[in-house]
Amino acid sequence: MEIIKCKNYDEMSKIGANVIISLLKRKPDAVLGLATGSTPIGLYKNVIIAYNNKEISFKDVRTYNLDEYCGIERNNIQSYYHFMNEKLFNYVDIKKTNINVPFARNEFVVEDCRKYNKEINRRIFDIQVLGIGNNGHIGFNEPGTPFNQETFVVDLAKETIVTNSRFFNRIEEVPTKAITMGIKNINNAKTILLLASGTSKAQAIYDLVNEEPNTMKPQTSLQNHSNLIVICDEEASSLL
Ligand code: F6R
Repeated sequence: MEIIKCKNYDEMSKIGANVIISLLKRKPDAVLGLATGSTPIGLYKNVIIAYNNKEISFKDVRTYNLDEYCGIERNNIQSYYHFMNEKLFNYVDIKKTNINVPFARNEFVVEDCRKYNKEINRRIFDIQVLGIGNNGHIGFNEPGTPFNQETFVVDLAKETIVTNSRFFNRIEEVPTKAITMGIKNINNAKTILLLASGTSKAQAIYDLVNEEPNTMKPQTSLQNHSNLIVICDEEASSLL
């Protein structure tokens, strides 16, 4: 595990973006696993700057997102599909057909999970970008998820619903279920790039580094990965 401690969010975002930018320069047809949430927004901004400077192109890049809320349509502004368009895809030359964000229809959950899982297992991800939950979740693999879990529909932890309610008018509007790549899928990526910012992540980062691997701390599943890069700002690394 390589741990890079940064001063602040901006530095974390630049260093994280540089990992993606150098990958795309080296391998223009890379397969990227992507995350949503507040953490990678700055990384995406820096990647867009590099695209505008003609340093990189997304012409041959394929992307696969980690997760999506259930019960929310694609065009809903709360969907992760919408988030990715707003934060990255609308500003680069990626082909629509190369964008993959999971989607689970209530009536066809099992089928939809199987379909996404099959699709991601066809690919070798060059990199998987991750944020981390205050409770240590990666993707939406909440505490207690087995390390051999593949794509599934999860009941979001109460803590996750409360944390994510900051994006909604009322907590009752936050979906209680999501489709997510499993811990096994995440660990299949060649490189894992985990970003963390803020004091609310400090304990989860401490546990990632110091706890014995155990399913109550999903982030500890990453400890045995051969190429894990953790980029933290000062606050997130404050307990290390
Ligand atoms: C998002 C995801 C989640 C977030 C995590 C942290 O696709 O899978 O694991 O990375 O909840 O969210 P933020 O970055 O908003 O603190």
